Amino acid sequence: MEGPGLDLILGIETSCDETAAALVTDDGELRANVVASQADLHARFGGVVPEVASRRHLELVTPVIREALDRGEATLEDVDRVAVTQGPGLVGALLVGIAAAKALAWSRRLPLVPVDHLQGHVASLYLEPDPVEPPFTCLLASGGHTLLLDVRSYTDHRVLGTTLDDAAGEAFDKGARLLGLGYPGGREIDRLAQEGDPGAYGFPVARVPGLDFSFSGLKTALLYAVRDLPPAELEARKADLAASYQRAIVTALVGRVRAAGGDRIAVVGGVAANSELRAALADAALAPLALTTDNAAMIASAGRFAKPVPYPGYLGLDAYASR
Ligand code: KG4
Ligand code: ZN
Repeated sequence: MEGPGLDLILGIETSCDETAAALVTDDGELRANVVASQADLHARFGGVVPEVASRRHLELVTPVIREALDRGEATLEDVDRVAVTQGPGLVGALLVGIAAAKALAWSRRLPLVPVDHLQGHVASLYLEPDPVEPPFTCLLASGGHTLLLDVRSYTDHRVLGTTLDDAAGEAFDKGARLLGLGYPGGREIDRLAQEGDPGAYGFPVARVPGLDFSFSGLKTALLYAVRDLPPAELEARKADLAASYQRAIVTALVGRVRAAGGDRIAVVGGVAANSELRAALADAALAPLALTTDNAAMIASAGRFAKPVPYPGYLGLDAYASR
């Protein structure tokens, strides 16, 4: 299927609770993008259970890779490089993707590209049909991270700000849990907030110095508001609580992005799916909706720019939990 000289990259992502594989060409065309979410499996625990996630990745990783090849009308023979998330994430989960990537690359003597998951989120912006070119200021807001980045090139960035406590997505998830909504919570709050009044509650927007973020006080404020309401009242005010809570998170994120300045702004990560945030930063380059939450297209995309490890030097490659 490939044109001459056009490398095909197989991306694999297993850092948390999504088992994902994708095919991307060297010039940024997305040929296939398969994501098997384990969200339902973890929902009854209200969060990701690492051991359960690893075992599920093990079951899903091969069928998901096969599906990506099928959808991309390719075979393993067509793949020129394998890109895989090395970290940060759950080590047991990461190791499943890394083992699969090593086996596939080694069997065909291909190079392997270890990809940083956060670089991956940024690289969700680099795919066709509307690729964004560095430099830009990037808000990366996910379940595990909230970072303001000065992205200088495809491989180089500087951290301008980070969260002092919870990540923005974590704040959404914990808020959803307090409101008795499902997991993952961001999407649930987003949905319920559409029916509520964002001005109903004046939840605090943390004031921390510089360009850092803090969301733990907000979570506590919601906890108090929920605790003070009788059950029937809580049910009636749920949408208002969700809308006000979301407004506080979005206000904090947008405030920092604006304070960072820079004439080109981009937003990536799971929280970039939030409808209020997308509307508030409509002038920014927003990651394509389907590529905001974890996927392997962004990993393969980052694999276009990150340094490959030639065969067979990657067999000892290990995962890392944090940066
Ligand atoms: O990037 P991601 O898939 O995984 C990590 O790398 O952490 O982000 C997942 C996070 C979760 O916290 C989820 O609640 C949040 O993204 N999220 C949202 C929305 N969709 C997903 N947060 C707010 N609004 C949404 N629509
Ligand atoms: Zn992520």
